Amino acid sequence: MSGGLLLAIESSCDETGVALLDGPRRIVGQAVASQVALHAGAGGIVPELAARAHLRWLDPSLDEVLADAGATLADVGSVAVTAGPGLVGSLLVGLSYAKALAWGLDVPLVGVNHLEGHLYAAWLLDPGEPERPEPAFPLVALVVSGGHTFLVEMRDHLTYRLLGETVDDAAGEAFDKAGRLLGLGYPGGPAIAQAAREVEGRAASPVDRLPRAWLGDSYDFSFSGLKTALRRLVEAELAAVGLPSTEAGGRLPASRVAALAGAFQESVVDVLATKTLRAAEALGARTIVVGGGVASNEMLRGRLATGAAGLGVDLVIPRPGLCTDNGAMIGAAGARRLAAGETAGPDLGARASWPLARPAGTPDSRRPPTRGVAARAYARARDAEADAAGRGAG
Ligand code: KG4
Ligand code: ZN
Repeated sequence: MSGGLLLAIESSCDETGVALLDGPRRIVGQAVASQVALHAGAGGIVPELAARAHLRWLDPSLDEVLADAGATLADVGSVAVTAGPGLVGSLLVGLSYAKALAWGLDVPLVGVNHLEGHLYAAWLLDPGEPERPEPAFPLVALVVSGGHTFLVEMRDHLTYRLLGETVDDAAGEAFDKAGRLLGLGYPGGPAIAQAAREVEGRAASPVDRLPRAWLGDSYDFSFSGLKTALRRLVEAELAAVGLPSTEAGGRLPASRVAALAGAFQESVVDVLATKTLRAAEALGARTIVVGGGVASNEMLRGRLATGAAGLGVDLVIPRPGLCTDNGAMIGAAGARRLAAGETAGPDLGARASWPLARPAGTPDSRRPPTRGVAARAYARARDAEADAAGRGAG
């Protein structure tokens, strides 16, 4: 990586994130401008509003971060920016801003996969936080965000083997839909966790127990059946007391909302934690890493902490502010990419869809890293996959 600070920019969804990193792990300044209030009225993200808000907030966020870090643009030695996946209009705002800065400052630019950012958030150190060892490989990483849910194995930096992914809704998306059904507003995750606090410690009554989709012993996830089960339960209870449907504004009493929020959270967390712990055990992982907005869920954190301690595996989950979208995580991944020799030119484009890891056997359309540790790890991962494919066929 070139010298100087790394400036990182995130604008893929509904948070404008800017951060300055000193080295691949240390945050020296950070700002996140949230658009939650802007989109709350619509009950979900309005893409055009999101793009305009990024444009509005990038400049003041950068000013704040520079002031925080006591730095100026002259201290910036490289720029990292989210290139996907996400809302194209929003991505383009961040990309244009980052390209202009990199060009104007004459420093290298790198495009980052947002999902890789969520994962590398586990490596970050806050300003003033004491040094701690990096997460040890091999590790199992769970990414649970509003748009993605998957589990990968990492044997080295920047190299992923997909273990499983959601076959329908992402975990965060499921929380958001359930939140709407229960009349809890947007985003649903924190609202459900809050409502469920009222029934904390109490097991869901057998009537309220919601299903879990185990999908055999695969590491895949499915949350749409759970959402449908919740919808049926809510609509039946509303109808039973003569209230209108949720669509027509019908709402259950607060105590029922709390009980169902608790049962829903329990069901999602149970599947996420069980599969992650099972993968860590089966693969002999030394570390479990978790990232994405849903990783700020306290029940999930608690369940994984207990399970990981039982297995003797380290668990690294960033503080909640680094689980939800932010610029620092893009810096953490971008720094590794730059160190591996990757840079982008002015043609860097936005990618609405960009899987971090693909199911074994699907054609690899990534541009492989060409040098350093990432190139070696990539070659090893390809060999391992070819081996596995050979065994599978035999
Ligand atoms: O990673 P993120 O900030 O944005 C995306 O990349 O999607 O994740 C946002 C998601 C939302 O679906 C939100 O409901 C969920 O994370 N979330 C939570 C919690 N905090 C945020 N879900 C469950 N419990 C939480 N405490
Ligand atoms: Zn995200």
